[in-house]
Amino acid sequence: MLCAAIVVAAGRGSRAGGPVPKQYHIIDGVPVLRLALAALAAHPDIGVIQVVIHPEDDSLYRSAVAGLEKLRPPVAGGADRQASVRAGLAALADDRPDIVLVHDAARPYLSQALISRAIAAGERYGAAIPGLPVTDTVKCVDSQGRVTASPERAGLRAVQTPQAFRYDALRAAHDAALVAGREGLTDDAAVMEYAGHPVTVFEGEAQNVKLTHPADLDRAAGAPSPRLDDVRMGTGFDVHAFGPGDHVMLGGIAIPFGQGLDGHSDADVGLHALTDALLGALCEGDIGAHFPPSDPQWKGARSDQFLAFAADRVRARGGRIGHLDLTLICEAPKVGPHRDAMRARIAQITGVGVDRISVKATTTERLGFTGRREGIAAMASATIRLPEETPE
Ligand code: CTP
Ligand code: MG
Repeated sequence: MLCAAIVVAAGRGSRAGGPVPKQYHIIDGVPVLRLALAALAAHPDIGVIQVVIHPEDDSLYRSAVAGLEKLRPPVAGGADRQASVRAGLAALADDRPDIVLVHDAARPYLSQALISRAIAAGERYGAAIPGLPVTDTVKCVDSQGRVTASPERAGLRAVQTPQAFRYDALRAAHDAALVAGREGLTDDAAVMEYAGHPVTVFEGEAQNVKLTHPADLDRAAGAPSPRLDDVRMGTGFDVHAFGPGDHVMLGGIAIPFGQGLDGHSDADVGLHALTDALLGALCEGDIGAHFPPSDPQWKGARSDQFLAFAADRVRARGGRIGHLDLTLICEAPKVGPHRDAMRARIAQITGVGVDRISVKATTTERLGFTGRREGIAAMASATIRLPEETPE
């Protein structure tokens, strides 16, 4: 069973305003679009993700998604959301997934549990959408604002994304709507309803808001986060031996040196220890489990992508990184002059404020392998806070 996700990100965010379209707005160091994609990419049942973007956003897109997994090259969207989804569906024609989840880039807070519910409901019903009971009384009005009807509240749901469908059925429904000139439908359920398919609502979640107005962006930026009571601490340790070379990669910085460090990747012991500290706090294995040294694609790989991956996993689980603390153990090179550059670089990779990142160094008084200048060791610890949520 292949399950794909389409994320529509081609809108202009005209109601939200701001210097960039809202899906590229930065919340706590991370673009909105990246938060949504990281959550989808982290779900084990999602195989591929197709993002639909505005052609003018190409460079914003590239920097927002660097290092994320499962992404197909982006395709250009259309004049309205319906046209953008159609472009995403067409781009998945060769994959021909069984189930497709369609999600708004402007909803960055979806949980793993919601994605699981969407996939299960999509498989079961063929067309399923997350919804919540409404608390306001809802009125139908005419163009003068006169009330024309008062639907019974108990029978109303406020509907969200991700919406889940059988791919073939959704594609056919979009094609039928296009041929009939039925435009401007604001969600895919409406397209399926138009094509005569029954659609079922499953339980949405309150945190999964769509950022729409400037106040939504302000609230997101300063938001007291949802309760993150599950505080965890992880540790990491790594060693690489010196070998031939003219620089070492350490803490994400290239330091000119009379030797290099041996390793399958760029051998940045500092970033490796930090990656393992985050994975340890998540209880999600270690760096070798995610990026096996036996896999040629990681040969010479930059270690910043390993660390970015681990930081994204924390966010994908709805969590925050509390702090990162790295200790480098070597006689040389001297770390002090590069400490602030390393902190700044680690902040950039992880999207964590530099005031929450510590880099320290020590020698081992000429004792042991580090004392004999045979290599560099690094140890790290990380604290993270996760929501108290039972994974499904
Ligand atoms: N969307 C899209 N293509 C469009 C219009 C919208 O991919 N032509 C996407 C948006 O990027 C967003 C989602 O559909 O992720 C929901 O749309 P909306 O919240 O209306 O976003 P915008 O259209 O960008 O905002 P606005 O209507 O305020 O301009
Ligand atoms: Mg819109």
